[in-house]
Amino acid sequence: MVRVTLYRGVVLMIILVESVYLTVVLRQLALVEEHCDPDNQHPHKGEDTRILPQPTIYVITPTYRRNTQMADMTRLAQTLMHVPNLHWIVVEDAERTSQVVEELLERTGLPFTHLCATTPDEYKNQKLMGRGVFNRREGIRWLRENVFHGVLYFADDDNSYDIRLFQQIRTTKKASVFPVGMILSLGISSPIVRDGKVVGFHDGFQAGRKFAVDMAGFAVNLRVLHANPQATIPTRLSYLEDGFLRNLRLELDDLEPLASGCTQVLVWHTKTHKPGTPSLEHVTHTDFDTNLVGLYRNILR
Ligand code: UGA
Ligand code: MN
Repeated sequence: MVRVTLYRGVVLMIILVESVYLTVVLRQLALVEEHCDPDNQHPHKGEDTRILPQPTIYVITPTYRRNTQMADMTRLAQTLMHVPNLHWIVVEDAERTSQVVEELLERTGLPFTHLCATTPDEYKNQKLMGRGVFNRREGIRWLRENVFHGVLYFADDDNSYDIRLFQQIRTTKKASVFPVGMILSLGISSPIVRDGKVVGFHDGFQAGRKFAVDMAGFAVNLRVLHANPQATIPTRLSYLEDGFLRNLRLELDDLEPLASGCTQVLVWHTKTHKPGTPSLEHVTHTDFDTNLVGLYRNILR
């Protein structure tokens, strides 16, 4: 009798220990699943974001060769270098990628993809042709083929970005929107937010646009891009952003206002002043034995 009771006691003890062990394992598995789910990767307030996986931001930058290119691209590169979990997709408006841009990308230490695309001949003489369309499209093509989770942002090479913007767009669920400074006649372009919802756009160019935003004024979750495999950027000047967001079948209700409910400016539509064009012809032959030859060789590369 004593032996049976003892035996029962031992079995009960084993069952108890096993249940505690199973509970702990299940709790751990639930935590792992929570962190692996891309929908759940938004750090909660007060949490240490360094230990949680964060969605990657894929920044597409169209760029083209001109006097101001290196100044603009260096400023942008050194802004993006401050942002964790960012992949930079630079698409040159050219037949082939250039050595100078490749070297700049390598210097950043960022994960990057360097592509190129030109405007097809039939569009070249089109009057109302938007800038940077076909190279942005090439960036989108690469994303569709290679990446499934993350957030897309179009960063033109000449704008100025506050790095706080990137931390905010990282949690974009569908599409986020925010003000852009130094735009057109109003000097600002912003979503109009009422009771936390986007109800329209404060922008100097309405012209029938459903989404009167600048290219720098929105970010999109890649899920939306994949859910709309045909969505592309139209070519018509001033309608690139509106067309793209319409093609993604977004509604005003889907838009998440950032930058403290669109009361702050975290990106500016700056334009770099165009200087004269450097040429070796500007160096007199008496200076051919000086640094000027090497300097011009570098800037004309
Ligand atoms: C405004 C918007 O901010 C752009 O996002 C939009 O593409 C453009 O209008 C348009 O609709 O055409 P804006 O400052 O006037 O931009 O244009 P740029 O800064 O000259 O060009 C926009 C981007 O396209 C830049 O990153 C630029 O490097 C690139 N780009 C421009 C090319 O790749 N190829 C070009 O021939 C010209
Ligand atoms: Mn610009």
